[in-house]
Amino acid sequence: MKDVLILGIESSCDETAAAVVKNGREVLSNVISSQIDIHTLYGGVVPEIASRKHIEKINQVIEEALLQAKVALQDIDAISVTYGPGLVGALLVGVGEAKAIAYAAGKPLVGVHHIEGHIAANYIEHPDLEPPFLCLVVSGGHTHLVQAQDYGSFEVIGRTHDDAAGEAFDKVARAIGLGYPGGPKIDRKAKEGNQDAIEFPRAKIAGSEFDFSFSGVKSAVLNYLNQCEMKGTEINTADVAASFQKAVVDVLVSRAVAAAIKLGEKRIAVAGGVAANSSLREAMQKECSKAGVTLYYPSPIYCTDNAAMIAVQGYYEYMSGRRDGLDLNAIPSLKIGQKNIVSSKK
Ligand code: KG4
Ligand code: ZN
Repeated sequence: MKDVLILGIESSCDETAAAVVKNGREVLSNVISSQIDIHTLYGGVVPEIASRKHIEKINQVIEEALLQAKVALQDIDAISVTYGPGLVGALLVGVGEAKAIAYAAGKPLVGVHHIEGHIAANYIEHPDLEPPFLCLVVSGGHTHLVQAQDYGSFEVIGRTHDDAAGEAFDKVARAIGLGYPGGPKIDRKAKEGNQDAIEFPRAKIAGSEFDFSFSGVKSAVLNYLNQCEMKGTEINTADVAASFQKAVVDVLVSRAVAAAIKLGEKRIAVAGGVAANSSLREAMQKECSKAGVTLYYPSPIYCTDNAAMIAVQGYYEYMSGRRDGLDLNAIPSLKIGQKNIVSSKK
């Protein structure tokens, strides 16, 4: 059978990325231009700057992805692009670019949901993984427990009621002076600390056993820091990082494994930037082994934002016949599993 090559484009937040993926699972190139350095100056992502930087970089990143994959644009079977959720100005750069290329080169266009892309990142290094499975999606903007019923069919069974897990990591990191982006910095700092030093709360949501809430633990850390300051007690940053991380990881792991047991799912995948967290991976592995559940997670480079995951998800949607027209628009608050409702089918 002829190989199918997908060009993926991702620009939903602060990474401008393009990738070429063969037959849905083989990454031929994965180019990421990060804007972290500039946003670090402001302590977080500045949407207007993100859009401008995407415009500056996107052509270069796409050319590099084709070059590294050793393919010409003519060889590509379809263009897939993240069209939501994310920052509207940032998304528009990728969507506009993808539409222009699709039109100029006469290629099919497939809009991809960013979070469904994160889930699909698990297929890259796990050839045996196929739906159905349960996925814990933990990123800077999202915390969801999702049943991936098929490559294009998803059911959300749990979600955060306030902050996303990654957002809590970023806010706590800022409060203890570690800077942006907080997740990897807390991950590193926590290794020097005692995770049992401070007892931070593990929130439960009454009546929704698979939902999450992280604003409580974040506030508890801020209160703890204030109290230390008022009393003149020295703050052990490593202990705060380790204890906070433990509180978040405990909740994520216990909800995900409980859901798998209740729903009879034998496989859990983890996805999104926070899936790169070493303590989360370790704790998930331990609890999954106990419960007889197989755990999957991508390498860190495929956990954080990248375009290979968008090309992978784009491949499965392309193969199922889904196409978008040139009326495809950026949808900042796109819901999981809503694609076919909002974009035109051809
Ligand atoms: O998936 P992602 O790259 O972007 C979104 O779609 O949001 O996730 C970014 C988030 C940030 O909040 C970042 O702090 C967090 O993932 N993150 C981590 C780690 N690496 C990235 N959080 C905890 N531990 C890490 N090692
Ligand atoms: Zn993401």
